[in-house]
Amino acid sequence: MDSIELKPYNLENESEAKELVDICLEYYYRSPWPPTKEKIMKGGVVYFRAFYQDKQIGISGYSIKTPTLAETIKTTVFNEFRGGGMGSLISQAIEDECKRIGIKKVISTVYYFNHVMVQIKLKQGYTIEGYHPDHEAPGFHEYSLGKVLK
Ligand SMILES: CC(C)(COP(=O)(O)OP(=O)(O)OC[C@H]1O[C@@H](n2cnc3c(N)ncnc32)[C@H](O)[C@@H]1OP(=O)(O)O)[C@@H](O)C(=O)NCCC(=O)NCCS
Repeated sequence: MDSIELKPYNLENESEAKELVDICLEYYYRSPWPPTKEKIMKGGVVYFRAFYQDKQIGISGYSIKTPTLAETIKTTVFNEFRGGGMGSLISQAIEDECKRIGIKKVISTVYYFNHVMVQIKLKQGYTIEGYHPDHEAPGFHEYSLGKVLK
């Protein structure tokens, strides 16, 4: 199978930041706190377009927590490409990118109802390290999953 190519967004560019927000709102966000262009442009998260066979099929990102710890964020597959293994490939690609820059452990928080992403992470060797009731907002319980990179 071909692999995913991650190409970084330039979030100093307002129209790229807007594109990212629009993608989050259309394909990702069940959160009560949707991202805004202003927040994304403040930085702190490195975001990527994810390409498969030269076609953009989703996005992903990471946030550096310590020199060796990163949290992967907003791994998303556009609706029309779901169910065919792309989510697994992007999850692996963002982990590989973290490893490439010297990260030793990756974590991810996932809503408790997001069985598909929990399944992907467990299959890729993550373990559930925590359960956070009413985390982002009341009713938005989350698991934290982590993986030490070898
Ligand atoms: C989560 C998401 C990225 C998955 O993308 P996808 O391309 O459909 O995922 P894949 O096809 O790679 O993998 C789906 C896996 O979940 C499994 N699955 C599907 N429905 C499931 C269910 N109800 N319960 C458990 N596992 C399920 C599939 O069997 C497959 O596992 P397998 O590879 O072992 O067969 C996609 O649904 C998405 O973008 N959702 C919105 C954004 C989001 O929630 N991102 C995660 C934030 S933490």
